[in-house]
Amino acid sequence: MKVLIVGGGGREHALAWKLRRDDPNLELIAAPGNPGIASFARCVPMDLDKLKDVAQLAEEELVDLTIVGPETPLEAGIVNLFRTRGLPIFGPTREAARIETSKRFAKELMVRAGIPTARAVQHSDAKEAKAALADFGSPVVIKASGLAGGKGVIVAQSVVEAERAIDAMLGDRIFGAAGREILIEEFMEGEEVSLFAITDGQQALPLLAAQDHKRLHEGDFGPNTGGMGAYAPTSLATPELVARSMSEIVRPALAALRDAGSTFTGLLYAGLMSTRDGPKVVEFNCRFGDPETQALMPLMDSSLLELIAAVAGGGSLSRTKVPDWKPLSSVTTVVAAAGYPNEPRTGDTIQLPPPEEGVEIFHAGTALNPWTNELVTAGGRVLSVTAVAPTLIEAAELSRSHAEQVSFKGKQLRRDIGWREVTRGARTT
Ligand code: AMP
Ligand code: GLY
Repeated sequence: MKVLIVGGGGREHALAWKLRRDDPNLELIAAPGNPGIASFARCVPMDLDKLKDVAQLAEEELVDLTIVGPETPLEAGIVNLFRTRGLPIFGPTREAARIETSKRFAKELMVRAGIPTARAVQHSDAKEAKAALADFGSPVVIKASGLAGGKGVIVAQSVVEAERAIDAMLGDRIFGAAGREILIEEFMEGEEVSLFAITDGQQALPLLAAQDHKRLHEGDFGPNTGGMGAYAPTSLATPELVARSMSEIVRPALAALRDAGSTFTGLLYAGLMSTRDGPKVVEFNCRFGDPETQALMPLMDSSLLELIAAVAGGGSLSRTKVPDWKPLSSVTTVVAAAGYPNEPRTGDTIQLPPPEEGVEIFHAGTALNPWTNELVTAGGRVLSVTAVAPTLIEAAELSRSHAEQVSFKGKQLRRDIGWREVTRGARTT
């Protein structure tokens, strides 16, 4: 079997790593991939804005299926293009991907389907937006409607801060076109859980729920990032919470997408807030999460390839079963570049520690210096260090100590990944 993976981050490295374990004879191509993926797959340089080139690669290489990692090619319609050419692909169409790419679309869909989420209004005029703040307390959440790499959300602690955020998005356009329209949203109190479901459009199978750490600094402070670390399992995601989220959130969302004529296939990521009134949606994503995928893949016992192949080929999940998971804990620590998330510095030489039992390093923002062949930083989130161990505390310790041994100038990492779970005292012995 031959599979093409689109993307070149830590998520794609972890997916490729898992698929290779599912089928050791699997032939893997990554476009563009990264130096970590290149150790076991063929990487083809690719500009992901040029979807026709990606389709041509899939055609020429006669791949059996393609998996799309990032949301941008999904928003640009890579699945639509592949389908018109009869090429099997795992991911939603441009229309279905709006559940992530337009927060307005997502909110309207949730309201229509009665899915629990924060109350919100949308505005494109700064004056009207500021007037609307009167209907919300503090804190209040100001969001760019379009894609902003996980950074388009400002939790404002006061009206003054909210007004500043509105001016920055609608006036100064700090998020460009993504912030042409904004949502003002009620603040939800609680802890966040990432729940992924693989779906053929009708049926949905949940993966193990995870928790990520979006803030840059320890203790969950500082600016929002794409994610500084993740862990699984989390005791917050009880079987009841997962079952309730599937029946009150994931399945109604899929039904509403079908009703809208935009059947969603692929991976639906529900970003949930576990509130006193039960799980509520913070956001949906139309693809695997990063870095949650790096934490989940080493724990997944059953075949991911089987599920992906069923969906990509347009088949049904009715004969597949809910995935099995190793009874272990997994913690992923992201090692980020100096200056991340605002202006990550690139070109710093990276030294990796020797391999360690129970640890996997997934590459993201890395590159090989073409002159010296040295590994150098090439993006914001440089590496994900995942450790698997019998308890969360052991996994956290192993992940942190291994990540500490990665060396490059100005590296940033959080040393507290999993702290909420450790504080809860769950799965620590
Ligand atoms: P999003 O891009 O919508 O996932 O938002 C990024 C982060 O902002 C989330 O992971 C939350 O930590 C926070 N956030 C977004 N919306 C809300 C909300 N309504 N209440 C509380 N926190 C929120
Ligand atoms: N971990 C957050 C995301 O993938 O969007």
